[in-house]
Amino acid sequence: GTDQDRIVAIDGPAGTGKSSVSRRLAERVGARYLDTGAMYRVATVVALRAGVDLDDPAAIEAAVDGIDLSLSNDPSSHTVFLAGEDVSSEIRTDAVTDAVSAVSAVPAVRTLMVDKQRALADGEFAVVEGRDIGTVVFPRAGCKIFLTATAQARAERRHEQNLAQGRESDLAAVLAAVERRDHLDSTRAVSPLRAADDAIQVDTSDLGIDDVIDRLADLVQTRIGVQ
Ligand code: DC
Repeated sequence: GTDQDRIVAIDGPAGTGKSSVSRRLAERVGARYLDTGAMYRVATVVALRAGVDLDDPAAIEAAVDGIDLSLSNDPSSHTVFLAGEDVSSEIRTDAVTDAVSAVSAVPAVRTLMVDKQRALADGEFAVVEGRDIGTVVFPRAGCKIFLTATAQARAERRHEQNLAQGRESDLAAVLAAVERRDHLDSTRAVSPLRAADDAIQVDTSDLGIDDVIDRLADLVQTRIGVQ
């Protein structure tokens, strides 16, 4: 066996229910949990606070270098720290969401985050959620899952979330944004979003969250076994 035998890699685009599914799957099977998107979001907080030009990768790299980021791998914990400061709310702001694509596209930032992700999950029974977990971070993960959903289904979920949060939302505009981001994410030069060849694809378009978790728990049991 290798140190990746008990890693459950879950990749896929936003709007597939990936984050809620991954966290609850980890709770269900008794695994650790790592939200790698949260890590790129903390790097983005650093870049924004430094006031760097987001069109300048070298400036982003310099700002993020030496970042002191820590997060718990307990699936019930939502707390993320930057140099000891709780930034769990700040990483979910629109300002961060708008800037995170630019920051996560910088190769040096990715190298730094991937190193930290491996340090946090190597040798653990852990659900690791992101975009490049099965392809780049843990290519020999014991269980690889790629969640998909039609652009329409993902746009509808985002639209419902916006309304639930009391925000204005136009479904057609949300759908256009989803399609635009799909294109950017799948065509970017560094770690484009794609399923690993050996990933099991699960389409969540017509499934409720509990059905998705049931299916994934079965896959974890088959591939990794009961821990
Ligand atoms: O899953 P999320 O929305 O919190 O991810 C935030 C951003 O980070 C998103 O633009 C994709 C990027 N990301 C990435 O490039 N690689 C990962 N492993 C995880 C997230």
